[in-house]
Amino acid sequence: MQSIPDLIKNKRDGKELSTEEIQTFINAVTNKTIQECQMGAMLMAIWQKGMTDRETQDLTRGMMSSGEVMSWPLEWAGRVVDKHSTGGVGDKVSLVLAPALAACNCKVPMISGRGLAHTGGTLDKLESIPGYNINKKPSEIQKILASVGCCIVGQTETLVPVDRVLYALRDATSTVDSLPLINGSIISKKGAEALSSLVLDVKFGRAALYKDLGSAKELAESLVKTGNGLGIRTVAVLSKMNSTIGRYVGNSLEVIESLETLKGNGPDDLMELVTTCGGLLLLMTGEVSKLSEGKTKISNAVTSGAALSKFQAMLEAQGVAKEMAQHLCSNTDYYQVLRKSKYYTELKIQKNGVVVDIDGMCLAQILHKLGAGRTIVGEKINHSVGAELLVSLGDKVSKDLPWLRLHYETPAPTEEQIAQLQNSLVISEKNTKYQKQNLVQEIIPPGWF
Ligand code: URA
Repeated sequence: MQSIPDLIKNKRDGKELSTEEIQTFINAVTNKTIQECQMGAMLMAIWQKGMTDRETQDLTRGMMSSGEVMSWPLEWAGRVVDKHSTGGVGDKVSLVLAPALAACNCKVPMISGRGLAHTGGTLDKLESIPGYNINKKPSEIQKILASVGCCIVGQTETLVPVDRVLYALRDATSTVDSLPLINGSIISKKGAEALSSLVLDVKFGRAALYKDLGSAKELAESLVKTGNGLGIRTVAVLSKMNSTIGRYVGNSLEVIESLETLKGNGPDDLMELVTTCGGLLLLMTGEVSKLSEGKTKISNAVTSGAALSKFQAMLEAQGVAKEMAQHLCSNTDYYQVLRKSKYYTELKIQKNGVVVDIDGMCLAQILHKLGAGRTIVGEKINHSVGAELLVSLGDKVSKDLPWLRLHYETPAPTEEQIAQLQNSLVISEKNTKYQKQNLVQEIIPPGWF
């Protein structure tokens, strides 16, 4: 058997690793017989030299099999589904979609992630709700799926443990945006869920991991191939990520916007993603015969309150006290339960005109520095830090009105950060007619529209 330094050297020198070599690396991570610096070096070698399709498939399978692979009752066959995103700003789609799918007779055993680079993580958002427990054993997940229909959990010591370790290290080693590492991370989790169908939301744009449509398409095609290779029927949507999804960014704030959406007051862009991803999954399960029918079904699950009831049941099943879950789902004074930041400041619009751009990347990076995200493995984040956009793209706005409410504690935003935020709002003084565009640009493989 080759030593870990030999494996690192092979990849560093651009050699294709054999199935056995990849398994040796996976075993060493699983059994904790590899040093952190060696894992970092291997991640960087993979980031630099890439992997062939065969290596990517082996890495993914190895990561999936590093823990338990779930199995489901026969009567659920064809109905176990999920969606996963490559990471966005204000991306709270999972919080709305999982319960909406459960309300449409699907089973959703969602294994999610924490924040990665500047993007927010579903687990961090849910942990802003006191008592929410992301650590569930496969037997507990099955119980929740039987009674509620959906759960949102994290990787554990026994569930994709290798992703748990590598995921945390990728931020610290600047190896987040690597095609094989993203494949391994996402598809191993979905493989462990033993899904029948999967939709991937692959983001492109300024605030995404991949900036242009071409490279995101390459990622989407490779994810679809790896998913199908594990026997999961996989489709990807390519969606734009330049600004933010919805108006709230930051962990507690995104829970609030998700709850408002589940109460029927969701922003159009969030609902577009929820209904498209959900509609595709209902089409893939055979629950509907057209995408438009699937979208309507998901939309009705949200507006009827059926998805909200599922969300409340999921919170309770995952450790949130009954009174708290009930309060969040039937009231609007969310801060009775969620932690509110000690301070906030409002930024003012500097001229009259039409909002033509909001830089989601700038906003995400500043919130990250203010404590909404982590830079060191295992670092505590501040769930109350975030921002509310008080304007949307295309709005006609007037000078001196507030456009952004920034929630913060320690550290406070610097003057430079405030100036950067001011520059992230672009207003056209001309009487521009702003053309709203669909977020979803393409579906892979084509032919689903
Ligand atoms: N989500 C994941 O789970 N992993 C990635 O690498 C990117 C997004």
